[in-house]
Amino acid sequence: MLQFEAKPERPDPVYAHKLQELIGGAYGEMTVTMQYLFQGWNCRIEGKYKDLIMDTATEEIGHVEMLATMVARLLEGAPATATAEAVKDPVMAAVIGGMDPQQAIVAGGGALPADSNGYPWNGKFIVASGNLLADFRANAAAEAQGRLQTARLYNMTDDPGVKEMLKFNLARDTVHQKQWLRAIEELEADGLETDVAPSALFDEENQEHNHTIWHLSDGPDGNKGGWSTGEDRLDYLMDPKPLGGPGTAPKPDPALYGTYSATQDTVGVVKGKAQEVKNKLS
Ligand SMILES: [Fe+2]
Ligand SMILES: [Fe+2]
Repeated sequence: MLQFEAKPERPDPVYAHKLQELIGGAYGEMTVTMQYLFQGWNCRIEGKYKDLIMDTATEEIGHVEMLATMVARLLEGAPATATAEAVKDPVMAAVIGGMDPQQAIVAGGGALPADSNGYPWNGKFIVASGNLLADFRANAAAEAQGRLQTARLYNMTDDPGVKEMLKFNLARDTVHQKQWLRAIEELEADGLETDVAPSALFDEENQEHNHTIWHLSDGPDGNKGGWSTGEDRLDYLMDPKPLGGPGTAPKPDPALYGTYSATQDTVGVVKGKAQEVKNKLS
């Protein structure tokens, strides 16, 4: 059974192509499914956090299923063979022009594990670091991007059946954003994490540079934000100076054939300057 109904009123192969973004896009349901599954499997503490992660992972599998079903139904009757004949009809030509041919050729009129441009879903889209604070922030961000894209797709159709399903998806993305934000607060309340991930090495990190924002662009208003006022403010460094020397790479390995001149690398320039001084002195 589907978690929610996925019944379009009529086929729409162009929209089926667009919906691929919510399945196999960087912020699609495949991403949140695999992201939450791996976070759950890698979670080192039993209990509420792991169970929340696994509950949500399982729900996201259901969203992949709903969208894949919706895509197959939107492709119902879509021309797969009679293209030449069909394009004579201007309406059909437009439809075919926007179709994803792989949905017919590869998936036999169904959904693909790919985005709306056909780019295949990729395991690199997911974040599962083992640090729950870092991961929950990535989760809230993924749900925000997912809800944004769902909202945009909601405005690209007037099919009541599609809209009904997307209304459900929007609602679930609302809940998921809120739950991850709440879970972040709870990690802090439980003393497991602070507001910076990982909550470690605070004494070791550079103490002079752990509370300053560097004014490095031409934009003059960065220091007008709330982040640079109040007790917990981040100080704005209005005229920062470089702390390091020239970022010159070392002499290349001759076997790698990097363009190189001994007299023009940093070491050569310094040597040349030293020689100049020596000459003046003698
Ligand atoms: Fe989802
Ligand atoms: Fe979600």
